[in-house]
Amino acid sequence: MDMFVIRGGTPLCGSVAVSGAKNAALPIMSAALAIDGPSRLLNVPDLADVRTLTSLLGTLGVQCRHEPDGALELRPSEASSCVADYELVRRMRAGVCVLGPLLARYGYACVSLPGGCNIGHRPIDLHLKGLRALGARIRVERGYVIAESERLIGTDIYLGGPFGSTVTGTCNVLSAAVLAEGVTNIEAAACEPEVVDLGRFLISAGARITGLGTPQIRIEGVPRLTGCKHTVIPDRIEAATLLIAGAITRGRISLTGADPSHLTAVLEVLREIGVGIRVDGTTIHADGVLPLRAVECVALPYPAVPTDMQAQLTALLATAEGISLVTDKVFPDRFMHISELARMGARVRREGASAIVGGPTRLSGASVMASDLRASAALVLAALAAEGPSVVRRIYHLDRGYERFEAKLRSLGADVQRVEDSPANVPPELMEVASPPSEPAMPGPHWSGAATRRLTPQG
Ligand code: EPU
Repeated sequence: MDMFVIRGGTPLCGSVAVSGAKNAALPIMSAALAIDGPSRLLNVPDLADVRTLTSLLGTLGVQCRHEPDGALELRPSEASSCVADYELVRRMRAGVCVLGPLLARYGYACVSLPGGCNIGHRPIDLHLKGLRALGARIRVERGYVIAESERLIGTDIYLGGPFGSTVTGTCNVLSAAVLAEGVTNIEAAACEPEVVDLGRFLISAGARITGLGTPQIRIEGVPRLTGCKHTVIPDRIEAATLLIAGAITRGRISLTGADPSHLTAVLEVLREIGVGIRVDGTTIHADGVLPLRAVECVALPYPAVPTDMQAQLTALLATAEGISLVTDKVFPDRFMHISELARMGARVRREGASAIVGGPTRLSGASVMASDLRASAALVLAALAAEGPSVVRRIYHLDRGYERFEAKLRSLGADVQRVEDSPANVPPELMEVASPPSEPAMPGPHWSGAATRRLTPQG
């Protein structure tokens, strides 16, 4: 297992390019199951989740091949199996995106329920409700969702839930309804750019869809879809994370290849915090040299601040002057990063679905443990700003969603090393702790008189 060793304190400077969006690429790749003939995807990020989905699609009859020019070629053939296995789906919840396309194409899908998750309860009842409305018979057996239907029939479907709509649920229903007989109207559809990108891909493949990007999507079913070429949108979450990397280190960075129209709310919050933001076409400049101040922000479905940026904003606000309030109304339990940030000196307290963040804090390097993808990003950001070295463990979470993250940070001047997680690779500063001042001097046979003592990482 790898970990990052980060020596913080250097203001990041320079220019860096945004990769393709993970959360757009995954449902688009899954939709290839419902398409006749090969498709070609450009701007697909090279990520652990993409590789996991490539393996899953391989078991379902879609061969995915990475071309030398960075494109991903998807070649569907007759599936020998319609079973999405637990071993693959548990590693990546987006595996559930194969449910709708499999059902639409083969009239049968058996997809493992993804299981537990560190960002809170993540049911898929709305996905199932939508597919049932299209006429599927659905049951859950031994941890698998089994969906069957001779013919899906278009209908009106309401996808609102207690926390808003559902992103991958909308993707599942959309990818199934494109091959249903008649018209489907999705009400309370997710408006996220990733859903729009999936819709655009399906339109290129011959689907008839209107209303993308609004809560009302209308789909007129077609008998078949054919392979097409599509360029995946830039990753708005990676983009915003990199902007915060610049701001939290009080540096100045430029982000190229972004789509600023997908980032309106985040850019607004960063401006409110005091980050100098300037947009020039697809380039976003962020200047963190100005004094940063506390804000209140709420993560809600698009176009508001995304829940996927909540942890990273919390890290930034720990370094800003004043008391901030960060609320997550999409995943109200997504706060595993708080205790790890506290290990770096951050003053953060959870109150229900909110984090109360006191600042400014001069963060200090520590050994911390990543618990999920965006929490890992928040810990890396905090480590970049911290005084002294930090170790961020379990970065396999980070590898799921950030392409060449350490290389990108290094290109901006950060000191980030990927090393094997072993005590030998922990910087000596983190192995030493000052003796408590009250500890009485205990001369004895083993007394060394040293002011510091070495501990194992578990100590
Ligand atoms: N929900 C239900 N029932 C459902 C589905 C969702 O109650 O059937 C609830 C969830 O528990 C949550 C809210 O509705 O409270 C929103 O969940 P949603 O279904 O929209 O999330 P998702 O589709 O499972 C996608 C992203 C997440 C991102 C969320 C919210 C992908 C592959 N994942 O998840 O991304 O946080 O939308 O925007 O697109 C990440 O990239 O780190 C990540 C977790």
